[in-house]
Amino acid sequence: MSVIVPTFNERDNVEVLFAQLDAALAGIAWEAIFVDDNSPDGTAEAVRAMGARDARARCIRRVGRRGLAGACIEGMLAAQAPVVAVIDADLQHDASVLQTMLEHVQAGADLVVASRYTEGGSACGFDHQRRGWLSRTANALARGLLAVTTTDPMSGFFMIRRNAVEELAPNLSRHGFKILLDILATSKGRLRSVDVPFAFGVRQAGESKLDNRVLLDFGALLASKWIGAGLSPRFLCFAAVGTLGLLLHLVALRAALAAGVGFTNAQAIATVCAMTSNFAMNNALTYRDRRVRGWRVFPALATFYLICGAGAVANVGVAGWVFWSGSRWWVAGIAGSLIGAVWNYAMSNVLVWGA
Ligand code: GDD
Ligand code: MN
Repeated sequence: MSVIVPTFNERDNVEVLFAQLDAALAGIAWEAIFVDDNSPDGTAEAVRAMGARDARARCIRRVGRRGLAGACIEGMLAAQAPVVAVIDADLQHDASVLQTMLEHVQAGADLVVASRYTEGGSACGFDHQRRGWLSRTANALARGLLAVTTTDPMSGFFMIRRNAVEELAPNLSRHGFKILLDILATSKGRLRSVDVPFAFGVRQAGESKLDNRVLLDFGALLASKWIGAGLSPRFLCFAAVGTLGLLLHLVALRAALAAGVGFTNAQAIATVCAMTSNFAMNNALTYRDRRVRGWRVFPALATFYLICGAGAVANVGVAGWVFWSGSRWWVAGIAGSLIGAVWNYAMSNVLVWGA
C-alpha cells in the first residue's frame, strides 16, 4: 500500500506520523509518499532524513505550486502500490483505521472513506464550533446537490485503487481542499464505496490551512460539478414550486392588507402561508417518492421553516454583497434569490426529505 501524505509546514508531525504508520501497518508492505509544497519550515528535509534511515519514506517536493488537491493527485499517481491511501500529516486522522480500510478494498471495494459522520465516528477535533458547523453544512450541500454515496464526502482520509485514480485524474480539479468530493462527483457513482468510522482528532503541532478562500473553492467545485451533471429534474420542480409560492405570497399579502392588517404583520402572515404551501407542494410533487407522512410532517415542516429562514438570510446577504461590490440591482437580486433557492433545495433535500 502507498500512503500519500500532503504536507505544508508539518515538520514537527512527520516523524510521529511515520511511526504511527509503522505500528498500524505491521505485516503489510507499504511506503509513505510525502508531497510537500516546499514548506519554509523544512518539512521536506525532515522527510529526507527519515528516508535516509528507512527507504519507505519518500518525498515529492513541489516548488512554485500550492494546493492540497493537486498534491494528493500527484502523490497518488507517483505511487507504486495498486492501493493508495491519503492521510493528513497533522495526526488528526487515526492511522490504526488503515488496516480495516485495506480489508474492505481486499473484499472488493474501490473506495473506502474514513468517515466522521457514520455510526461510531466523531468529529470533536474541530478547533472551534464554526468549523464543525461549516463542515456539516458543506456536507449536507454536497449530498443534496451531487450523487454522493458516502456520509463524509469532505473527509481528507480515504483509500482507493490506484487505477481508479489514474482513470479520473485528467478530470479532477487541482485547486482547493476537496479531493474526495471531486473523485466522488467525477466518478458519478461508478465506484463501489464503503464508509469506515473514525474519530477525527485534535491537530498536534502547526496550524490548519483551511481559510475562506478554500470555502470559495468548495463552492466553485460544487457548482461546476452540479451544473455539469445537468440541473436535476427535482431541482427544476422545486424551483417551479418556489415560483408558485411567490405568487401565493403576493395574493396572501394583498388579502391581509385588504383585511386591514398592518404591513409588517401582513408580510409575516404571507411568508408563513407561502412556506407552508411550498412544503405541502414539495412533499406531494417534488418528493412524492420520499413523502413525509403522519405525525412526522410536523418536525419536517419546522425544519423546512428553519432552512427557509436561513436561506432568506443567505439570499439577502449575498444580494447585498453583490450590489455593494458594484453590480446592477437586478443582478444582485437574481444572485441572492438563486443562492437562496439552491440553499433551500440542497438543505431540505437532506434534512427534510432525507437523501
Ligand atoms: N502539499 C500540500 N499543499 N499540503 C497541504 C496544503 C498545500 O497547499 N494545504 C494543506 N496541506 C496539508 C497539511 O499539511 C495537512 O497535512 C493536510 O493537508 C490537511 O491540512 P489542514 O490544514 O490540517 O486541514 P484541516 O485539518 O483544516 O482540514 C482537514 O479536514 C477537512 C475536513 O473538515 C483536511 O483533512 C481536509 O482535507 C478535510 O476536508
Ligand atoms: Mn488538520
